[in-house]
Amino acid sequence: MMKDSNYNQIKAEAFSESLIDILNKSAIALALSIGDRVGLFKVMAGLPASTSKQIACAANLNERYVREWLGTMVTGRVVNYFPETLTYQLPPEHAAFLTEEGEYNFAGAMQFVPVLAGVEDKLIKCFEKGGGVPYSAYPRFHEVMAAESAQTVVAALEPYILPLVPGLKEKLEAGIDVLDVGCGAGRAMLKLAETYPNSRFTGYDFSEEGIRHANNEKMKRGLTNIRFEVRDAADLGHMEDYDLITSFDAIHDQANPAAMLNSIAEALRPDGVYLIQDIAGSSHLEKNLEHPVSPFLYTISLTHCMTVSLAYEGAGLGAMWGEEKAVEMMHAAGFENVSVHHLDHDFMNTYYVATKQ
Ligand SMILES: C[S@@+](CC[C@H](N)C(=O)[O-])C[C@H]1O[C@@H](n2cnc3c(N)ncnc32)[C@H](O)[C@@H]1O
Repeated sequence: MMKDSNYNQIKAEAFSESLIDILNKSAIALALSIGDRVGLFKVMAGLPASTSKQIACAANLNERYVREWLGTMVTGRVVNYFPETLTYQLPPEHAAFLTEEGEYNFAGAMQFVPVLAGVEDKLIKCFEKGGGVPYSAYPRFHEVMAAESAQTVVAALEPYILPLVPGLKEKLEAGIDVLDVGCGAGRAMLKLAETYPNSRFTGYDFSEEGIRHANNEKMKRGLTNIRFEVRDAADLGHMEDYDLITSFDAIHDQANPAAMLNSIAEALRPDGVYLIQDIAGSSHLEKNLEHPVSPFLYTISLTHCMTVSLAYEGAGLGAMWGEEKAVEMMHAAGFENVSVHHLDHDFMNTYYVATKQ
C-alpha cells in the first residue's frame, strides 16, 4: 500500500496492537459464554486450585475440552495457573463477576455474542438488500434475555426501580392494575405478582416462545393474580384500564414504537404512571463516545434490535435511539411529564417515569 507523507507509523502500530487486543478479547468473550453455559465458573468458584481432571470431574464434563478452555481462561487472565502442580484456580474476585451468585454475571451477558453472531449470514443479506432478521431467527434469545433481565431488572425492582415513583409500593400493596408490555419471559411481573398479592398483573408479548416460558413459570409458582397473553403492543386494545404500565427494554426494537406509546397512553388511567427502562445513550453519536459500552450496544442493535424492527418494515430505531428521542416520542404520545433517571447499579439503561397529567 502507498503511504502518503501524513502516514504516522506510530499511530498505525498502536492501532494494529489494539486490533490484536480486540481479536483476543472477542475470543475470550466466546469462551466466557461457553464457560457459563456448561457451568464451569460455578464449579470452579467452589473448588480450591485443581487439575483439569478434577475440574472436569466436578463439572461432569469432558476433560480434553475443559483443558483447552482453561488455556483461553489462563492466557486471558481470567483463571490463575500453577505449573508446578498443573492446577487452575478461579480467584474469588473474578468469580464475583462470572457467576449468578456474585455481583453481576458478565459470563451470562457474553452469551449475547454467540446468539447474535448466529444470524450473521442473514444480516449480510440485509446489508445487500435491506429488510431485517425476525425474532424467530434467534434461538435462545428469550432465555438469554430473561437471564440478563433477572440481573438488571428483577433484582433491582424493590431497592431501586419502584422507588422512582413515590408512593408506588404502597399502591401495589393496596391493590392496583399493572401491565407490562413486551414482557418476554415475564420475570419482572412474576416477581411483582409474588410480592404484591393484592395487585393484578398482565404481561403482553407478541412472542409465543416468551409467553410460553412466562406461563410455565406462572404455573410452577402457583400464582393466580397474573396472566400472560400473546398480543401486539402496537394495538393493546385497552382504554384507561391500568394504573401502572411498564416496559423493560421493549420500546426501541418495536416495529411501530410510536403506535405502542400511543396505545400505552390510551391504556393508562388518567392518574396512572408509565415506568420505562430502555438502553442508556444519547441520540447523537458523538455524545456516545465516552459511553462505557457503546460499541457493544451499537453491535447488539445492528445484529438484533434494529434488524428485528426492520424485519416488519418497522421504524428500526435501534438500541441507541437515545434519551433525547425517547423523551420527544413520549411527549408526542401524550405524556405531559417525563422524568429521566440513572441508577448507580445499571449504567446500561435509562429509566423514565411518564404521566399524562
Ligand atoms: C429486548 S426484549 C425484552 C423482554 C423483557 N421485557 C425483558 O426485559 O426481559 C423485547 C421484547 O419485546 C417484544 N416485542 C417486540 N415487538 C413487539 C410487539 N409489536 N408486540 C409485543 N411485543 C413485542 C419481543 O418479543 C421481546 O420479548
